[in-house]
Amino acid sequence: MKETFFLQTPPGLEKLAKKELELKFPGLAPQQALPSAQMERGGLSIELPVTIGLTLNYWLKIPNRILLRFAHFKCRDIPKLFNKVSKMDWSPFYAGQKVNFHISSHQSRLFDDRKISKALEDGLAQYLKRQEPKEKAKRRAHSFGSWHIYCRFEEDWCTLSIDTSGERLGLRGYKSDVGLAPLRENLAAALFLFTSLSEKEGPYHRDKIKALTLMDPFCGSGSLLTETALFYEPNLFRNYAFEFFPSWEQKNSPLKDLRRPSALNLDLPYFLVGSDIENARITTAHQNFKAAGIIEDEEDHILIQGDILDKEFCQRMAKNIFGAQKSNPVHAWCITNPPYGDRIKQPLTGPQLLENLNDWGPWQRIGLLLPADQKLPKKVGHYQQHSRLLFEHGGLKVAFTLYEPHPKS
Ligand SMILES: C[S@@+](CC[C@H](N)C(=O)[O-])C[C@H]1O[C@@H](n2cnc3c(N)ncnc32)[C@H](O)[C@@H]1O
Repeated sequence: MKETFFLQTPPGLEKLAKKELELKFPGLAPQQALPSAQMERGGLSIELPVTIGLTLNYWLKIPNRILLRFAHFKCRDIPKLFNKVSKMDWSPFYAGQKVNFHISSHQSRLFDDRKISKALEDGLAQYLKRQEPKEKAKRRAHSFGSWHIYCRFEEDWCTLSIDTSGERLGLRGYKSDVGLAPLRENLAAALFLFTSLSEKEGPYHRDKIKALTLMDPFCGSGSLLTETALFYEPNLFRNYAFEFFPSWEQKNSPLKDLRRPSALNLDLPYFLVGSDIENARITTAHQNFKAAGIIEDEEDHILIQGDILDKEFCQRMAKNIFGAQKSNPVHAWCITNPPYGDRIKQPLTGPQLLENLNDWGPWQRIGLLLPADQKLPKKVGHYQQHSRLLFEHGGLKVAFTLYEPHPKS
């Protein structure tokens, strides 16, 4: 039986999230044709067998959460909502644990969050009176601390969804510390995929890997580098809400066959280079690399303190990356999230930074994440603009602008 899942994504990244699904799905479910996913604002909806839909939590790096839509009914008043909720079979997901409600309403008679919330709470309490959950189911559900139910009213229709993720998926579980203005992990993963899709040969897929050097001169805690290295790995550094669904305790539950995937431990030929003016950030990036298990081999990366305004430092780094270019061509990207100037002063304007990077060597791609209203040139030195990705980061409209080598250079 198929269920409807909603892959909630940051606004602006819906299309990219769909690409990620299409890219990873064949490996995830080889016997299953990928059903078409419908793009909606803020996410994708897709019908999948329940075990496959839940497994997406391990593999997809761009969504914020994965919701399971389990009820859709006409509802014009609060008593009806209470009635419906109290009579529904909640046993697969609910055994009396504390849940957070997320309510939204669009062109509906029901819009008062407090009243809706109260009807949901009372309905669940009434349900529990009718059907006392088994001790085992209670224990399982209570041993997890992040439960969310989404209740959406659209005109006269109510949709109830249970969150299968728990904490948002961008919290991967490997980070011990962050800097002042860290980039969310799911956004970092999106920038990697966007850059990868821009290459003529197609994305860096795990089945046709080629060597890639990735440089981030404002690496902070190292999100862009770490997320690149882990993009095709399942995220096993944390738990997910569905792993605590009471339905695991039910006889004949389809979840019984569900297993955590094993890490692929792909030995990808990435050479990761990160620098930051703050020594503390470099220490953090080192710790995060280690916690994420990506630096077994010290030759696969350089993490170093350095100032982008220091010419001698930039020349040294360029030599590290492109030194052997003549005998052994390097496929290198520089993708980065410079300070915007709100919490940390922006050391160079976008055009100045591009001029600086133009002098380093033959990048295949340069990508800058900056506020969308900062003007960037179409051409700089050997590079021309390739594409832009617009989305929101921390409530601010930002643009990731990609440059490629100019054909004549
Ligand atoms: C927006 S943060 C980058 C965050 C990073 N992507 C992460 O996820 O942690 C910008 C970083 O640039 C660093 N920075 C500021 N001025 C710099 C400079 N002149 N040279 C190199 N790094 C600099 C800051 O220390 C900060 O860590």
